[in-house]
Amino acid sequence: MRPFIKPNLLNDYHLLSYEELDSTNEEARRLAEGGASHGAVIWAKRQTDGRGRMDRKWVSDEGNLFCSILLAPGCDLATAAQLAFVTSVAAIETIEPILPDGGDLRCKWPNDILLENKKLGGILLESFETADMTPGSNKMVRWVVAGIGINIESCPKKTDFPATFLKEAGVEIISAKIVLSRFIHHFITVYDNWSKKGFAPIRKQWMENAWRLGETIEVRVGDEKLSGTFDSIDTSGRLILVDKKGKKHTVSAGDVFF
Ligand code: BTN
Repeated sequence: MRPFIKPNLLNDYHLLSYEELDSTNEEARRLAEGGASHGAVIWAKRQTDGRGRMDRKWVSDEGNLFCSILLAPGCDLATAAQLAFVTSVAAIETIEPILPDGGDLRCKWPNDILLENKKLGGILLESFETADMTPGSNKMVRWVVAGIGINIESCPKKTDFPATFLKEAGVEIISAKIVLSRFIHHFITVYDNWSKKGFAPIRKQWMENAWRLGETIEVRVGDEKLSGTFDSIDTSGRLILVDKKGKKHTVSAGDVFF
């Protein structure tokens, strides 16, 4: 299906909107292979094969937001991983002002957005086309796709972690289109800040909104479980956990439970 293309959303950013896609992340990849440029914003009203982290499925019924941004950040893979935090911060800035007073909105490490301790949204960061810039350097990444799903009208019922949606939280007059335009606005600003000032301000903002920071958490990495105090995230976005014996653990990937 040919998308409707709205150029010059703001600077490099341009919106491609679709009634239905398999996955907006997958479309971003196809578009990059077909010559698309940095800043393509892919939005679909529904997805038939939406995907989440760790090979999970992302239920994608019409009414919720499904969007991916194609980025050419010009950095190495480790630095590109920070874009998950850029996306989370933009999502917090998007949602916070539209919530009824006192709504508890949080970033859950590594890529989730929680409202009242329930999952409201998730981020899937994917990269492709890397080049080894030897000698000794980290691999450079050509493309990063930042995909985000935000539950607006509904959420799946049976999930490992409880889920919620904006209307359940009392946000009445809102649509995926409005959330999208607000999100892109904030994403552009946060991304720009990241490219100019680096990870430090993003990390600070993320930590100010972090779920369970300073509390005891359990991190599951495959079949392994680690529990301890959620101390911080490091300068690469890895989770720092301090166990009962005071030993520090650095976790690159996993799921957090309370
Ligand atoms: C997660 O929490 O596991 C991440 C979910 C990411 C879902 C979004 S919806 C838009 C984009 N396209 C996809 O197929 N996945 C991401």
